[in-house]
Amino acid sequence: MKIIRWQPRRLLKLTCSVVTLSVVVLVIYTIHSIWKDNRCSEEESSTLLDDVCQRYKDHIVAGNLCSDLCEKQTIDFVKCTNYRQGKKVLILECNEACRTGERIKVVMKTKSRHKNEEYDRLVLPLNDDSAVSKDGLEMAKVIMTNRAFGDMHFTVSSQQNIFSELWSMDFEEYVKSAAYKNADHVALMSIWSLIQQDEYLFMKVYQDIPYVPRLYGTCGEYYFMEYAPPGNILSPGFFGLSPWPKRVEAALKLMDIAQSLETDFYQPLHFCDVKGDNFGVGEDLSVKILDSDSLFFDEKMSMNMKGTCRQDSDCDFFDCRGMCDTVKKTCNGRRVNNNLQNICEDIFIDIPSNFFRGLLHDPPTSIAKDLIVVLQECAYPNKNMGEVVRTPTATETMERLYSLLKSKVS
Ligand SMILES: Nc1ncnc2c1ncn2[C@@H]1O[C@H](COP(=O)(O)OP(=O)(O)O)[C@@H](O)[C@H]1O
Ligand SMILES: [Mg+2]
Repeated sequence: MKIIRWQPRRLLKLTCSVVTLSVVVLVIYTIHSIWKDNRCSEEESSTLLDDVCQRYKDHIVAGNLCSDLCEKQTIDFVKCTNYRQGKKVLILECNEACRTGERIKVVMKTKSRHKNEEYDRLVLPLNDDSAVSKDGLEMAKVIMTNRAFGDMHFTVSSQQNIFSELWSMDFEEYVKSAAYKNADHVALMSIWSLIQQDEYLFMKVYQDIPYVPRLYGTCGEYYFMEYAPPGNILSPGFFGLSPWPKRVEAALKLMDIAQSLETDFYQPLHFCDVKGDNFGVGEDLSVKILDSDSLFFDEKMSMNMKGTCRQDSDCDFFDCRGMCDTVKKTCNGRRVNNNLQNICEDIFIDIPSNFFRGLLHDPPTSIAKDLIVVLQECAYPNKNMGEVVRTPTATETMERLYSLLKSKVS
């Protein structure tokens, strides 16, 4: 019998190989489990659709697209996105119900996790036939008017009906034509579940703004919006590089959005989750805000940035950075960076340590040198790369960046 004699070097080599192999297996296993956990499945999506359709058939929810989704089946499921950690986002195909003469992709979304459980309940007094009483209707009107005004400064004229303005159907017509008694209650519950979602309310109120995606309609707590994926331009995979003219076009549009958020609303709007994935590119190559949940008007932003603190980071609200008054030990209630600073830091510029290639990578050589300088100034106005930025990008930097990019659009 041959006896294997292990020499120390051979033993060391073998141990190293076993350790390396175990580490590789562990890493693959971990990545696989994270990926699996974050994935959505067709079965789950079909359960979600069955659930809302069942509630529609049971007269628990309503909306202009329920019948197309649940009865006529003219809206078909295509796929879901990874929604485990966030909103439910399903991609569907819709015929005439969404846009006349065309079959288009649409996105069906909700933030609600388990039916309506996470919303504030709206309890309205009902009549014996379970229709909403006169007082109940008045109460709903006041509550919804306050919500729309408080969150968005949205008001209606005396000729308009607040319920219809916030929904996808004419409220009174719907109630009149419904074949069941409590149609007003069903409608009000659906409207209530929608307007508690900041993204829906924002999109509904600001449909005229070009970078707000179109809303096609609703069913229960779900809303159907324009399909505008981040795509290769705003969310490139490792190798998915788009040509410079497309990237520079998108960058200029993102800068226009940053500017508009500062000036075009009743108060400046702060975008606190800035990343390529939260913007989309529409059919006509226009750039859209996809995740308006993380948009906050100035007043609300200040409320989010109050409270006790020991250091500046205690006052941060995602990408919106705050500052701590260390003497009073309270946050000073103001955002100290700005939207453009975040866009430059989180979308435009390369972050080599994260292997992140910014949208403006590999510019034409004629502007490359100047662009590096101005992008650094935009992303790190205090020249403090590597630290958390607590300074806004100056208007002068914005103008320099804008004209540099404009000069090299193609
Ligand atoms: N209208 C849309 N068109 C295409 N893709 C979308 C749309 N809305 C969302 N998505 C995709 O779904 C992802 C998650 O949606 P988002 O609203 O950002 O939810 P979350 O709050 O979970 O981040 C987005 O990053 C985007 O990739
Ligand atoms: Mg998002």
